[in-house]
Amino acid sequence: MPGVRKLRVAVIGAGAAGLCAARHLLSRPDTFAAPVVYELTKNIGGTWVYEEKVGHYEDGSPIHSSMYRDLRTNIPKEVMSFPDFPFAKHLSSFVHHTEVRKYLEQYCDHFRLRDYIQFGTSVASVNPVSVKDGWNGLAWNVTSNNGLDHSKSTTERFDAVMVCNGHFYDPYIPAIPGLEKFKGALIHSHDYRSAEPLAGKSVVLLGAGLSGLDIAMELSNVNAKVILSHGQKPLTCPLPPGVQQAPPVTSVLDDGTLEFKDGKKANPEVFMFCTGYNFTFPFLDEKVGVKVQEHLVWPLYKFLIPPAYPSLFIVGICRAICPFPHFHIQSQFVLSVLDGSFRLPSREDMEKDIELDIAARRARGIATRHILKLDSEQWAYNDELAHLGGFKPLPRYWSNLYESNKVFRARDMLNYKTHNFTVLDNMEWKVHDVNGQQLQKPLAVNKQI
Ligand SMILES: Cc1cc2nc3c(=O)[nH]c(=O)nc-3n(C[C@H](O)[C@H](O)[C@H](O)COP(=O)(O)OP(=O)(O)OC[C@H]3O[C@@H](n4cnc5c(N)ncnc54)[C@H](O)[C@@H]3O)c2cc1C
Ligand SMILES: NC(=O)c1ccc[n+]([C@@H]2O[C@H](COP(=O)([O-])OP(=O)(O)OC[C@H]3O[C@@H](n4cnc5c(N)ncnc54)[C@H](OP(=O)(O)O)[C@@H]3O)[C@@H](O)[C@H]2O)c1
Ligand SMILES: *[C@@H]1O[C@H](CO)[C@@H](O)[C@H](O)[C@H]1NC(C)=O
Ligand SMILES: *[C@@H]1O[C@H](CO)[C@@H](O)[C@H](O)[C@H]1NC(C)=O
Ligand SMILES: *[C@@H]1O[C@H](CO)[C@@H](O)[C@H](O)[C@H]1NC(C)=O
Repeated sequence: MPGVRKLRVAVIGAGAAGLCAARHLLSRPDTFAAPVVYELTKNIGGTWVYEEKVGHYEDGSPIHSSMYRDLRTNIPKEVMSFPDFPFAKHLSSFVHHTEVRKYLEQYCDHFRLRDYIQFGTSVASVNPVSVKDGWNGLAWNVTSNNGLDHSKSTTERFDAVMVCNGHFYDPYIPAIPGLEKFKGALIHSHDYRSAEPLAGKSVVLLGAGLSGLDIAMELSNVNAKVILSHGQKPLTCPLPPGVQQAPPVTSVLDDGTLEFKDGKKANPEVFMFCTGYNFTFPFLDEKVGVKVQEHLVWPLYKFLIPPAYPSLFIVGICRAICPFPHFHIQSQFVLSVLDGSFRLPSREDMEKDIELDIAARRARGIATRHILKLDSEQWAYNDELAHLGGFKPLPRYWSNLYESNKVFRARDMLNYKTHNFTVLDNMEWKVHDVNGQQLQKPLAVNKQI
């Protein structure tokens, strides 16, 4: 128990997750001292801070954001927002990325978070320390550098650390035999900014996640000839003009030709990896034992807490989720753990829980690299955390509206971003297409509970 001493929490990163963590910590001055938020760059917003340049900032650190010039959100603003801070009313449902950055600036100002952020400060190491009087006998040394200048490092002591460093900035490039023999241009979607430089070119895109699909549409608009190479079931919805599908690229032949899994070949001018990102926590003490293997971060109780060091929280590693509300729920859950309103199980019980959970997912045929993909399970996860932590769950319309948008996207990825949604009450919402026609809702609302 904290007693009279307030808990000091460090937050690593001032993207959407770090801001959300700070917002909740500051709302509880009874229990928590003002947080320290460490932010590597000069800006809040992380992913939503578009950088035209690729490569490195002036100070030599790698450019963080994977944002491209014309990106619009793939989640309607009605459910993309933090539940306690809606997007501006005048905006349509799918906004340009500049509006999301503005929104995060407004969130930051509204909850007066800026004074607690140390800009231009990169966390270099996070080390657990045994103490007599701390939370569960544990404290944390957080060592940070001013910029990348390692000669001026500072160490501060905290009761807990929330890791919010983002997970879409370190490109994952699969090992493809012979890749070095490819003679055209190789690029990862992290370094994609706009379609014009690829106008009219032949392009193989590897990976049909949201980046692969969205970039295929952008390239189609500039008359590129695109082969979308991926390992999922062939897409059945209408594809953009000039886009064909192929199975994954499996090797590059001696003359630089790409070979697909079905034996067919292509010799494009550009080979673009839309293959996603690696998780990376370069500052975490190895002693903590958090491992990344095949896109799984492990072992974490409720995808958040290493059982052996339960005052460390790795926020936002789940995939195929609705990010801002997810951070909102996870942050409040962290507070409930730290203030004692939710008592964590013993280390052994948490380890058991993780083991069983992963085994159950594997038994359902889920590959290791997909274990963190919550998808439709995110709603039960959110509700469980709210229940355990004793705080307000998301409004009832949230899951139904979000899942319905996914159905619209699967049916028509070319046009779903022209829809406008309207929330009517805690349960109901409606949606209009670009002509102002009200559309039929694709999923029944679960009226129980
Ligand atoms: C191309 C793209 C499109 C997306 N579109 C959508 C969308 O439409 N809707 C949606 O809801 N989500 C979308 N997302 C997901 C998006 O990542 C989340 O919305 C959200 O921005 C994640 O926030 P975060 O705080 O976890 O990470 P980030 O936004 O990446 O922020 C992490 C912050 O931590 C800082 N940092 C990292 N390491 C350190 C360190 N060692 N020390 C100090 N600071 C550090 C970084 O500088 C950064 O500011 C998209 C993502 C991508 C890549
Ligand atoms: N607002 C928008 O419209 C928009 C646009 C782009 C991105 N985003 C967001 O950005 C985030 C990152 O998305 P992302 O698409 O870059 O990453 P991602 O979701 O991790 O998708 C990467 C894809 O690449 C595939 N892949 C990896 N290696 C492969 C290989 N060797 N062969 C074939 N396929 C391979 C993966 O398939 P497996 O899973 O089978 O390995 C996966 O489908 C997501 O949160 C997404 O929502 C949003
Ligand atoms: C933590 O920091 C203090 C003060 O800088 C230092 O004396 C101590 O050795 C550090 N402990 C660990 C485990 O890093
Ligand atoms: C990213 O992950 C791949 C495979 O998981 C690995 O080979 C590669 O070394 C990782 N890259 C970095 C920079 O950690
Ligand atoms: C969606 O809503 C916005 C804001 O109210 C409006 O400007 C826009 O015209 C609407 N678009 C459609 C397709 O209804």
